[in-house]
Amino acid sequence: MLISNVVGARPNFMKIAPVVMELSRRKIPHRLIHTGQHYDEAMSKVFFDELGMPEPEAHLGVGSGSHAQQTARVMVAIEEDFLKHRPDMVVVAGDVNSTAAAAMTAAKLGIPVAHVEAGLRSFDRSMPEELNRIVTDHLSDLLLTTEESANQNLKREGITDSKICFAGNCMVDSLLRFRDRAIEKRPWEAHGLSPSHYALLTLHRPSNVDDPFRLTQLMDFAARISYRVPVLFPAHPRTSERMESLGVKLPERVIVARPQSYVTFLGLMARAQVVLTDSGGIQEETTALSVPCLTLRGSTERPSTIEQGTNCLVGEDLDLAEDLVERITLGDWKQGSVPPRWDGCAAQRVVSAIETFSPRASASGVH
Ligand code: UD1
Repeated sequence: MLISNVVGARPNFMKIAPVVMELSRRKIPHRLIHTGQHYDEAMSKVFFDELGMPEPEAHLGVGSGSHAQQTARVMVAIEEDFLKHRPDMVVVAGDVNSTAAAAMTAAKLGIPVAHVEAGLRSFDRSMPEELNRIVTDHLSDLLLTTEESANQNLKREGITDSKICFAGNCMVDSLLRFRDRAIEKRPWEAHGLSPSHYALLTLHRPSNVDDPFRLTQLMDFAARISYRVPVLFPAHPRTSERMESLGVKLPERVIVARPQSYVTFLGLMARAQVVLTDSGGIQEETTALSVPCLTLRGSTERPSTIEQGTNCLVGEDLDLAEDLVERITLGDWKQGSVPPRWDGCAAQRVVSAIETFSPRASASGVH
């Protein structure tokens, strides 16, 4: 049996790392393919080093481009790799372009696909990630879910029970493995900050950063809340580019930083007073850490972070966000609880499901 694991962009690495470790522990032959969707050292190599991921056996070097260009380049390059190595299963994670491209290519070659983090839905098809999720799930033979809403979404879309495995959250496996080390590093000190006395901001969604009006509004918001609590803002390359071209000026208490490494960012999240973000994964990580999170989007594909965790959606309403930051700094916020199977053992369940996967059972489940 050979398993090919595919990663491409920053949020894939911490989801696949524990699966790779578990495959190694069980001595199941596997190879790692990096599509190269993210390529800057700070967006990729640093994560491999910190997570202890082996060098990928293949690096496809696809880089940036329009959605069609990026997706097509992954498909062309990864097809060659699949044809050469003929894996028995391809494992993809999350919802980035590389995920959907690899799933589509494998499915057309008749290679079973396992999707880590299947079934999440924002019900907002203007998000490229939502389209990637739908395509990937419907091409997958083994759907490994992180929360109950995902199980329900898949069933509603007609996917049979036999393909769905409620494995839990592999990203939380990585978080629990590195949390103590991350806090011991005291990464806030490098920015002159004190634990539990700063806000941590991240923005990279096209809907927030590509529209100059929205980005300016968000920067004004960051400036306003910085008078209450200093704001640390590690900016994605796409966001820094947009800010530079707009000539954004920020007060001193909004500290703009380069993208942070995995462990450093984990430490920063763990001791933030509040996290403000448009990321998907960070909503889950803050829930796992019991840190208040305000999501600067109108929808979430991760409802358990709101229903059980510490997250709240604020959408476009930055006045509401400002009021909520005030409440949080006054200590008035829900404690939250950690959703089931976010327990550090998700990758074990993923690999057990891969080991017991039978293509015949999956095929009979197709209707
Ligand atoms: C991608 C994912 C998004 C995920 C995010 C995490 C898709 C559709 N989007 O968005 O779901 O939340 O990663 O970061 O797959 N760039 C660099 N260096 C890099 C990578 C990107 O400078 O190493 C810049 C380039 O200008 C590039 C832009 O960022 O055009 C966008 O990169 P891309 O991978 O297309 O999408 P992300 O916004 O990173």
